[in-house]
Amino acid sequence: MIQKRRSRKFSKEIFTDEDGLRFATPEIVGEYRAKRLKTDVIGELGCGIGGQTVQFARYSSEVIAAERDEEKLECAKRNARIYGVKNIRFILGDVRSEEVRRFFRDADIIFCDPSRPPEEEIRSFLNFEPRIDEVIELYSPFTENLAFEAPPQIPPARVPFECEKEYISLNHQLNRLNLYFGELKKRDVSAVILPEGEVLYGEGEISYGEIENYLHEPDPAVVKAELLGVLCERFDLRVCFMDGKRILMSGDDMRSPFLKNSYILRGVCGSLSEVREILEKGGAKKAVLRFEIPPSEYWSVRRRLEEGLNGERTFHIFRGDKFIVCERLE
Ligand SMILES: C[S@@+](CC[C@H](N)C(=O)[O-])C[C@H]1O[C@@H](n2cnc3c(N)ncnc32)[C@H](O)[C@@H]1O
Repeated sequence: MIQKRRSRKFSKEIFTDEDGLRFATPEIVGEYRAKRLKTDVIGELGCGIGGQTVQFARYSSEVIAAERDEEKLECAKRNARIYGVKNIRFILGDVRSEEVRRFFRDADIIFCDPSRPPEEEIRSFLNFEPRIDEVIELYSPFTENLAFEAPPQIPPARVPFECEKEYISLNHQLNRLNLYFGELKKRDVSAVILPEGEVLYGEGEISYGEIENYLHEPDPAVVKAELLGVLCERFDLRVCFMDGKRILMSGDDMRSPFLKNSYILRGVCGSLSEVREILEKGGAKKAVLRFEIPPSEYWSVRRRLEEGLNGERTFHIFRGDKFIVCERLE
């Protein structure tokens, strides 16, 4: 059933079917991609409810958008009206069929955000619909300039194609992986930080060092793109803590879009009773636990640490061999 819904993904109320909104490309990501793929004629395979399509239409002269689900295509048409764009040719059908394929003959660039299962233990390219290898085979006779969206959990080494792997974070959450082929490939791996639009790429060795006064958490797109070495060299940072999920780097007092959070160190100690002393002395009110702990124990440990604290500050506590107590810098 088609309905009009408001979502944080879009600045306007948009039309969606039951699950279209869930898989729709957020406006800010769609706009970034549309700027990078700006051209005369852009084709989109599997346009869904048109989150990406309307952005392509704002930046490219002409858009051809195909979708096999009639309700989703209807939403995309209505969303194009909401966004006030008129340069889209919508096509209903399976993009693997010859009748749909022929509409894309004049496209300079073809983009595809395939369907994939909502959850998988290990993300696999074989479960995409349409599959990337199929699209390459069917559409590369028209243009080598192909771009795809893929799940960002896949590390660069597990992408079995010769293409640029661009990891995108939105508000410091890992959001998208874009794959660029042909002339669209500018480098091997890159990380893009949105909304700032900052891009990181290149070569660099990871440096390791001690925990120092200022600590920084790298953005997850930089980590996923395996560009920590570039960050170390560019900003003179040293990795001083890793626990499998979290990374801290020491360096100067600085801020950068490539850093998710920055902290000032309040203490390093060996036990929770010493953590409690640091919290008391430092004027803390809240203690955010940033280490692996069974969810059922999180609040009992946190309450024990916070009980009777009468300060105002929020401290974050990481745990490796020792507890690292720090305060976030705004
Ligand atoms: C992840 S969604 C795209 C979402 C879109 N980017 C948006 O912002 O709404 C993938 C879409 O591809 C469509 N699709 C999958 N296989 C297709 C095929 N063989 N032919 C046409 N459309 C297909 C699905 O129906 C689905 O709407």
